[in-house]
Amino acid sequence: MQSPGSFEVLAHAKINWMLRILGKRPDGFHELETIFQSISLHDTLRFHPGEPLSLACDDATIPTDDSNLVMRAARAMIDRFGAPECRIELEKRIPAGGGLGGGSSDAAATLRALAPLCKTPPSQDDLARVALELGSDVPFFLSEGTAYATGRGERLVALQSQAGIPLVLLLPDERVMTPEAYRLLRRGRDEGRLPEGEAVGLDRCTLAARGSLLDDVAMLVNDLEAPVFAKLPRLAQLLEVLRTTGPAWARMSGSGSTIVGAFRERDERDRALEALRGGVDAIGAETASRS
Ligand code: C5P
Repeated sequence: MQSPGSFEVLAHAKINWMLRILGKRPDGFHELETIFQSISLHDTLRFHPGEPLSLACDDATIPTDDSNLVMRAARAMIDRFGAPECRIELEKRIPAGGGLGGGSSDAAATLRALAPLCKTPPSQDDLARVALELGSDVPFFLSEGTAYATGRGERLVALQSQAGIPLVLLLPDERVMTPEAYRLLRRGRDEGRLPEGEAVGLDRCTLAARGSLLDDVAMLVNDLEAPVFAKLPRLAQLLEVLRTTGPAWARMSGSGSTIVGAFRERDERDRALEALRGGVDAIGAETASRS
């Protein structure tokens, strides 16, 4: 067992190369087919075991009470597996409500950090179960890298790593609540304005990832774009602006509002960032491999 002492864990953001929403399930969630990708942008969590459970965050807009997924993850590890209480500091760099999985990644980082300190160490299956209780994206963040996912996002198959691909992230002020994005999609489909989702299958995704996913961009769609763009047309405009800078692929990430573009070369990405300067908040990042 690791001796108690303060330590730091990184929580990487994700993008979705593809997000296909296949239908509503009896439990109210949607069946989906997605390709998750970790990226270099990250939050940092500092754990101080042996102190009473608490959370502090350098971003005052983030709640630090029991509604925060970090607190819920820590509480689950303490109650179920005998993890030590700890003081947690969260350095927030991933925008909240941006479709980059920040809260989910922080939660998974907490599970990973506390697992080795538990009196009754949880198995990987135990961790995956707790992760899914915390949120649909949390299981992915236990392993990160590039992964094909179905179900709510918890049935994961690691794909060949797509690490080091240069990215531009546009971070608009608009915020999208995930349930709202799904609701808008559902309404659009029920009223016949939006097409039903179609799966492409693991084989095509595996094959594409063997080389570069950027060679099969026709597959890499996001079904939540149309309903979210209809509500927030500025996001559609930003995607068009990003496309004028010549990315190999550009889409909204997850339920938005982040718009992401991938470039084949770093200098192309840097020129795009230069061209976008002064408009929306734009940052560079890279895809990352498994932690
Ligand atoms: O699981 P998570 O808390 O991230 O989900 C937030 C919301 O997004 C859910 O309450 C649901 O409205 C929607 N959702 C969904 N189907 C999924 C994932 C999320 O309907 N597979």
